Amino acid sequence: MQFILSEEHEMMRKMVREFALNEVAPTAAERDEEERFDRKIFDKMGELGLTGIPFPEEWGGAGADYLSYVIAVEELSRVCGSTGVTLSAHISLASWPIYKFGTDEQKERFLKPLAEGRKLGAYGLTEPGSGSDAAGMKTTAVRDGDEYILNGNKIFITNGGEAEIYVVFAVTDSALKHKGITAFIVEKGTPGFSIGKKEQKLGIRSSPTTEIIFEECRIPVSQRLGEEGQGFKIAMMTLDGGRNGIAAQAVGIAQGAFDAALDYAKERKQFGQTLSKLQAIQFKLADMATQIEAARLLTYQAAWRESEGIPYGKASAMAKLYAGDIAMQVTTEAVQVFGGYGYTREYPVERMMRDAKITQIYEGTNEIQRVVIANYLLK
Ligand code: CAA
Repeated sequence: MQFILSEEHEMMRKMVREFALNEVAPTAAERDEEERFDRKIFDKMGELGLTGIPFPEEWGGAGADYLSYVIAVEELSRVCGSTGVTLSAHISLASWPIYKFGTDEQKERFLKPLAEGRKLGAYGLTEPGSGSDAAGMKTTAVRDGDEYILNGNKIFITNGGEAEIYVVFAVTDSALKHKGITAFIVEKGTPGFSIGKKEQKLGIRSSPTTEIIFEECRIPVSQRLGEEGQGFKIAMMTLDGGRNGIAAQAVGIAQGAFDAALDYAKERKQFGQTLSKLQAIQFKLADMATQIEAARLLTYQAAWRESEGIPYGKASAMAKLYAGDIAMQVTTEAVQVFGGYGYTREYPVERMMRDAKITQIYEGTNEIQRVVIANYLLK
């Protein structure tokens, strides 16, 4: 057993770190302030081969593994949590289910442009009345010849409005509860499919979050993903991987806040010495670094399991739970190290603290992660 990254993984980290520092970090505060998504950043990620990291080359991917993918999300999130989740939702939530459950024709038509970064992906599960209780969705899909007619609306869609390809879930047989849910691939521009309200958020403000609306929206059977009734399983299995992407985002945000706090502690003088000489600050830094390292190990372990084909649902839920919680703690402590300055927009730590909060909420709240973990322990 080795706890060092391979040359390939180190190269991935170096490449993404350079890109993040040069092309993402400079506008992170401004995009947050303006709630502005920058498509050019996504396009550049496509040029670098980041948009299809874990998928085979034949489908436009980079043919790398899931560890490379989480390293990329971590490094992006270290400077900008919004950019981290853009990539995570694109790869884990939109591209992955098509890779795993799509026909070759669907992979050619939808996965390839996603993996190559020519199109952006999104995932539609949550509805106004069903968040944690995902199976309680109300959006319907009624078969009509070679088509399904979709009606309903989904909310909190990451990459909403900007994405061209949406993997969505709808009820095809309400009597069957979760066994009556089916997955579909929907393209932006399809008649009857529209983008609703854009959310104004506490954090990850340069990642667009919108409602999506279906009104008599006709989707050909060829765009059904998997079999009728298989949708809930597809949604859950997709989230198994997605949650580890969020764990990586949380690790990255925490690391970014820690880096800033460490630098500040070494520079800022009070009582005739730098903050770093004060044991109160040293203990904070030691706790923060330890928590980040533990969260990173859980995240990398879950990614390694997925790459090796070993079950990873529990590992991924544990990683997301722990990394989300410590990201909130670490970023809050980072603001504390900065004192009054940390509370201002002059420094990035307040943005990181705002960005961290969502990692305890989306892709299953941390309470739901505990439910998932307990189910594994008790079954
Ligand atoms: N893999 C495969 N199958 C799974 C599974 C998994 N990970 N989890 C559940 N299933 C299967 C079960 O085996 C069961 O199948 P059978 O009927 O064949 O036995 C079926 O699904 C139903 O399982 P449960 O009885 O456990 O389902 P439930 O209704 O009680 O819900 C839940 C379980 C864990 C609470 C689930 O609803 C859940 O994960 N909720 C949270 C939803 C969520 O994470 N939403 C986030 C939305 S995405 C997002 O945040 C957007 C973003 O853009 C970033």
